[in-house]
Amino acid sequence: MEQTIVRLRDEATQQLTQISNAADLEEFRIRYLGRKGLFGTIMRELGTVSAEERPRLGQLANSVKAAIEDLFAEKQTALAGDTRTKKGQGSIDISLPGRYPEQGRLHPVTQIMNEVCAIFEALGFSVAEGPDVEQDHYNFEALNIPAHHPARDMHDSFYVSESILLRTHTSPMQARIMEACQPPLRVIAPGKVYRCDSDITHTPMFHQVEGFLVDTKVSFADLKGVLTIFTQKMFAKDLALRFRPSFFPFTEPSAEVDIACVICGGAGCRVCKQTGWLEILGAGMIDPEVFRMVGYDPEVYSGFAFGLGIERIAMLKYGINDIRLYYENDLRFLSQF
Ligand code: PHE
Repeated sequence: MEQTIVRLRDEATQQLTQISNAADLEEFRIRYLGRKGLFGTIMRELGTVSAEERPRLGQLANSVKAAIEDLFAEKQTALAGDTRTKKGQGSIDISLPGRYPEQGRLHPVTQIMNEVCAIFEALGFSVAEGPDVEQDHYNFEALNIPAHHPARDMHDSFYVSESILLRTHTSPMQARIMEACQPPLRVIAPGKVYRCDSDITHTPMFHQVEGFLVDTKVSFADLKGVLTIFTQKMFAKDLALRFRPSFFPFTEPSAEVDIACVICGGAGCRVCKQTGWLEILGAGMIDPEVFRMVGYDPEVYSGFAFGLGIERIAMLKYGINDIRLYYENDLRFLSQF
């Protein structure tokens, strides 16, 4: 009896190591561990051995059966793991779309900025960039805005010190470049500007493109021509332009320029506040006083200048009604452009 138990143990252990699939394992279970299996037979036979032998043999048989059951369970988990990977491999769906890496893109303000620059570059303008942190002299003084001039109130300036501030417009580049170069000049100066202002149409930082042209015999008609070409290219339509008399200390005469509303075409809507017109830029003929300060003779030279807001152009072009959307970094907004 004892020998039978030991033989059964060796045989079962040996067989288990060779099993490599679920069907064989099930066969093994029925043969050894099942109700009518070999261990069952042994247990039943234990009833026939003598009363003195029974406890020892019973204990042996039980421990051997438990050990085999443990090995069986181990094998079962090992095989289950295998089946899972095999199933996984078989069920890869090659028609599923892959995961694409998130694609970056240029910020809408950068895109419009590039577009504006490209249009003026095609007209022969060169691009110049200047400092964001500017001297009071270039931001105001050299543009015919002396201290205590009421026009300073129009600019809610961020001062860094008594004579240094964050530039409130890109116009200081007119003075900087004219001071350093001689006419003829055709320049645009894109960049960031800062004003202490914040609501749905104002952010404390925004972007402008300054443009100016200086030569002999430059007239307001040249300004009109250049701006007409620009608006037509920018909005890809034959849009009407309107020049409204205005005032800037560094241009004379000065104008604010409107385009026919890009949303309603001039009929009147919510975006143009029923006027049919949208203001897009400030412009004018460079003031003789500005020329004198940079050492140009106003009797010889004349020129025009304009300054346009990039965020504003993008808002009109894309029908965006809140300027703050540009600076909230919400990809749902930004990825539309
Ligand atoms: N610098 C002016 C502004 O920021 C715009 C402007 C530029 C007007 C050039 C006339 C000429 O409002």
